[in-house]
Amino acid sequence: MTEETTIPDDEASANDATFQEAQRRSDATWVKLRAGETKGFRVLTGDRPTGALHVGHLFGTLQNRVRIQNLGVETYIVIADYQVLTDRDTADAIEDNVRDVMLDYLAAGLDPKRSTIFPHSHVPELNQLLLAFLPLVSMPELDRNPTVKEEIKSANLRTVNAAMYVYPLHQAADILFCKGNLVPVGKDQLPHLELSRKVARRFNERFKTEVFPAVNALLSDIPLVLGLDGQKMSKSRGNAVLLKHTAEETAKLIKGAKTDSDRNITYDPGNRPEVSNLLRLIAACTDDTPEAVAARIGDGGGGKLKSTLTEALNAYLAPMRVRRKEYEGAPEVLRGILRDGIVKAREVGEKTLREVRTAMNMGFGL
Ligand code: TRP
Repeated sequence: MTEETTIPDDEASANDATFQEAQRRSDATWVKLRAGETKGFRVLTGDRPTGALHVGHLFGTLQNRVRIQNLGVETYIVIADYQVLTDRDTADAIEDNVRDVMLDYLAAGLDPKRSTIFPHSHVPELNQLLLAFLPLVSMPELDRNPTVKEEIKSANLRTVNAAMYVYPLHQAADILFCKGNLVPVGKDQLPHLELSRKVARRFNERFKTEVFPAVNALLSDIPLVLGLDGQKMSKSRGNAVLLKHTAEETAKLIKGAKTDSDRNITYDPGNRPEVSNLLRLIAACTDDTPEAVAARIGDGGGGKLKSTLTEALNAYLAPMRVRRKEYEGAPEVLRGILRDGIVKAREVGEKTLREVRTAMNMGFGL
């Protein structure tokens, strides 16, 4: 990393303050949602289709999406297929991954009648917004995004393509094409959401309009679920239970999970991160606290901990596996869901784009 691309201290602390502010707004929104106050919210969120989703996604974001959808909030889910090519050169896996992600969504309980699911590659109106947004940000601004920097580092790229720098702005188009104002995401996405907020504000100010709403993050309050080895959960590390795994595959993976030699099971995230992570997973499945789960297992040791997790997780995933099977056998239904999602997204996007062009003096009275 060169000198120019390092965030100076004052800016990093400015970021801290903005992120704390985002957390406060998110907390306030949760209070409203829990009280059933859903009016005025439009949710947009999504995923890069880089692989099948795992239980970390389920407990971290998917469950929240389903909860919010079921509260009656209008929900859009973007499958960000263009964003796949930011850190790799091949599109070979995209089609299979989109299918997997769709199946995971539907299995988890996203309902295509209530949530609009679409790949952004099929919504030209959304993509065109990127062109309207490009003049609103500076190159250094794109260059110093901490999440982008982190991704560049961890992907070990020989050369960094322009999509990598611009995708946060494309993500602003994902959010704003439908005037989304509430974006359920993990904390790593906060720099992107700050950019979306800025772009919406700058657009409105520069073109003296109120086309775009204020964008707010809705942060998940569920503690991060780690992989079965205590490291970050990821498919490529082989430490993740995928939503598409069978009950047997799940049992086998959990058998290989890392624990420690103390037979007395206690919830102690500081000293026993692996054991505590498994306890949190069980708690997430049984709507319990990790401490209560630990007390029940007592001195049953790692064996009992693992068998408890296998049972709890398989019971939790069972209805999802049934739903997944139904859709797996019906590719035409799956395509229909995408088609409908695209039609709806394009309708909404076309309306926004008209307003955008008019605000930019490009309406030409047509
Ligand atoms: N970048 C997000 C991720 O990696 C995925 C994403 C793309 C997204 N477009 C979005 C998330 C719009 C929220 C809103 O998880």
